[in-house]
Amino acid sequence: MILNIRRIAIKRLFISWILLSLVLGGIDFYLEMEDADDNVMRLAVKESESFTGENLHRLNQTNADLSELRQKATEFLHSHFAIVELYNRDKQKILEEMDPGVDAVEDELKKFPHSFPLAESPYYRKLLIGENVFMQLLLPLRDKSGAIAGYFEGVYQVDAEMVQHIKSGVARALLLIVSVALITTLTFYPVMLFLHRELVRFASSLLRSNIELMEVLGGAVAKRDSDTSAHNFRVTIYAIRLAEAVGLDSAQIRSLTAGAFLHDVGKIGISDNVLLKPGKLNDEEFAAMRTHVLLGVDIIGKSAALDTARDVVECHHEKFDGSGYMRGLKGEEIPLNARIFAIVDVFDALTSKRPYKEPFSFDKAMGILLESRGSHFDPVLIEAFTGIAAELYREVSSASDAQVEQMLRAVVSEHFFNSSYLAQFLKKHIQPASSPSAG
Ligand code: C2E
Ligand code: SIN
Ligand code: SIN
Ligand code: FE
Repeated sequence: MILNIRRIAIKRLFISWILLSLVLGGIDFYLEMEDADDNVMRLAVKESESFTGENLHRLNQTNADLSELRQKATEFLHSHFAIVELYNRDKQKILEEMDPGVDAVEDELKKFPHSFPLAESPYYRKLLIGENVFMQLLLPLRDKSGAIAGYFEGVYQVDAEMVQHIKSGVARALLLIVSVALITTLTFYPVMLFLHRELVRFASSLLRSNIELMEVLGGAVAKRDSDTSAHNFRVTIYAIRLAEAVGLDSAQIRSLTAGAFLHDVGKIGISDNVLLKPGKLNDEEFAAMRTHVLLGVDIIGKSAALDTARDVVECHHEKFDGSGYMRGLKGEEIPLNARIFAIVDVFDALTSKRPYKEPFSFDKAMGILLESRGSHFDPVLIEAFTGIAAELYREVSSASDAQVEQMLRAVVSEHFFNSSYLAQFLKKHIQPASSPSAG
């Protein structure tokens, strides 16, 4: 499949899943912890609220009997509290009861001396000491009239069971989030594959249309001076085969193919009395005929899709020794595709019937090509063509027009309808930034 869509889809979805899990999981973890703190706080406050009553005023009396308060504080140590302290309304410590063996907690608390809350509302903070979770809380104690009589400070130990309960609650919620995120992202996998398949189908049909457009346009012109479009089909096959023989890459072969289809598209602007003249052209007529090169360049210049044909359209009548037209380019100044095309164009013109000539035999045609090597043609390319021409000609000349068209489709498919070019074509056409330019 084109663009390695499965690998890309899986990678993207995996990243989405991780990100989604991290974000949602992080939010959830924070909320769960807040919630757990609130719950512990509520429990601790609830337990400490029993610390009320008529004895509270004794906190503020000198030499008061504190035994009842002390008794109560000791009871607290039997529930969840590790340390209980009572302060008077002036925030002086009056009483302190402590579980034996919580010195570590006490030491830790001394490291973080608390300030009494300014507001008259409960204050708490969480402490992690070793493996244990403690909640230090500070509450104002009120007498019956509602006035503050003192303060309660307790260090509430969150027991292992509760810690475990909170942990497994968080773990369950995280697992749920990760699973839901996974299911959600996986839902997109077949959707991505489907959309990609549609896109590839669309790209293929667009590419097919582009090629057909070149084929039809070039064929329509060829039909004017050679009865059928077959000349165009044949030169395209020859050109691709010669290019393959000299090891051109597929990208260059695609340009050559476009060039082969469209090489003489400018002949559309040449009048019938010149183009279809049964005999030899005079100088004036030949001058008019030469303009088919410029007309062709002008025509393909109107379309970015046809622009790859330019080298061939513009330079297929250049000659290796510099005596050709339109520019008189010499040797390797002539684009390689044009040098390749010149050989197969002349070969096919020689072996075909033209309004002005009868077909020559294969041997005669090859004789003319070989004679012109170094003058008209690139000798290296002539050498390569000589190696493949006989078999190629036999194949093509013995085929019907329909069969030639069949052969053409096969060679074109190989260079255009392969996954690497389709991917490239798709990329080019789904990037809105690349606006069509006439060049
Ligand atoms: P075309 O018929 O497609 O020919 C393409 C090229 O093949 C010609 O380019 C020429 O290089 C080569 N070629 C064709 N026939 C012969 C031939 O009998 N002997 C040799 N040695 N080479 C041949 P060129 O000459 O630049 O011509 C371009 C186009 O001009 C031709 O395309 C054709 O449409 C037209 N043309 C050329 N000469 C004549 C002519 O004498 N009478 C008419 N009516 N048209 C001609
Ligand atoms: C030219 O240079 O005039 C023609 C070259 C070619 O047909 O390849
Ligand atoms: C090209 O421009 O297509 C190639 C030129 C060269 O190989 O001479
Ligand atoms: Fe031409």
